[in-house]
Amino acid sequence: MKILFLNGPNLNLLGTRQPEIYGRDTLASIETSVRERAQALGVSVEFRQTNDEGQLVSWIQEARGTAQAIALNAAAYTHTSIALRDAISAVGVPVVELHLSNIHARESFRHHSMIAPVCRGQISGFGAFSYILALEAAVNVCKTA
Ligand code: DQA
Repeated sequence: MKILFLNGPNLNLLGTRQPEIYGRDTLASIETSVRERAQALGVSVEFRQTNDEGQLVSWIQEARGTAQAIALNAAAYTHTSIALRDAISAVGVPVVELHLSNIHARESFRHHSMIAPVCRGQISGFGAFSYILALEAAVNVCKTA
């Protein structure tokens, strides 16, 4: 079983980017923690980051037939991207939406997720641990599919 972790814009800056909101873990250290947990669960993971909306769309499309589930931190595109929503709807691969911060406790423009209605569920507000929770959720979704 393979879980594809996709990370959107500015998440390459984790560690130094607004640490009071996003914490001090880098994306590389989060990936290490996810890989450790994935090994314990006996699943494989792939971890990617891009600042480009179109690249995220392409990766979601490519997941069909290559990954059993996607854990997606679409970052700011969460709130704006009809293209991401359409890609998720089109491929039929289950997607777990994830965020480090609690988007519902922040500015009102972050309260709405364009992708939430087409995702299996949303994990938001647990910092780096959101990634572990998303892994657990994605694996569970696959097992119960
Ligand atoms: C985020 C929340 C988004 O609102 C924001 O644009 C991000 C990161 C999070 O992980 O908390 O870039 O997705």
